Amino acid sequence: MKKSIDTKLALYPTPVTVIGTMNGGKPTWTLVAHIGIIGHDRVLISLAEPHFINGLIKENGRLSVNLVTEEMLPDVDKAGSLSGSKADKSGLFEYELGESGMPIIKQANLSLECRVDDIYRTPNFESFICTIDNTYVEEDCLNEKGRPDYTKVSPVLFEFPNYQYLRTGEVIGKCLSFKEAK
Ligand SMILES: Cc1cc2nc3c(=O)[nH]c(=O)nc-3n(C[C@H](O)[C@H](O)[C@H](O)COP(=O)(O)O)c2cc1C
Repeated sequence: MKKSIDTKLALYPTPVTVIGTMNGGKPTWTLVAHIGIIGHDRVLISLAEPHFINGLIKENGRLSVNLVTEEMLPDVDKAGSLSGSKADKSGLFEYELGESGMPIIKQANLSLECRVDDIYRTPNFESFICTIDNTYVEEDCLNEKGRPDYTKVSPVLFEFPNYQYLRTGEVIGKCLSFKEAK
């Protein structure tokens, strides 16, 4: 029997991402795990309104979304605890510029370069709704069909109720292969 735990936000795990944008000639990075897919051509990035990066994202109209690996966690934690308004976070990750000029983290196995299409506002939050300009994947993490192999991309996951990171699991079956089983 299930027990109600009130209206706790519990729709987890979600992927941990580092959001990047440019601050003049340098990048700035912010950790975001409240990220989602809306339709097949839009992603949503939910940022608390007072964060430093929000103004720069609005100015540039663009951002990068970088999936995180376990090796990146020490620097990822810094991107999620220091504000760019007080500390220069530009040196946290090695990066190269994508075709649209957004900073792409070299250590990340998969990154998106995105363009802001709209901002959905809720109390204290700005959710950036973005289209995708480019999807970059480390070549070693592509399968023979040229698609990302997520057992190799190995994105770190997050859950808010206990505030911790999780490892990605194993493949347990192909989608729609179970429908005849019952
Ligand atoms: C694990 C983790 C996940 C986070 N997820 C989000 C998030 O989804 N949205 C958000 O606004 N802040 C999130 N944060 C907080 C920001 O990353 C943090 O406040 C950061 O210092 C803001 O940086 P900025 O002011 O330079 O933009 C998260 C922090 C951690 C540690």
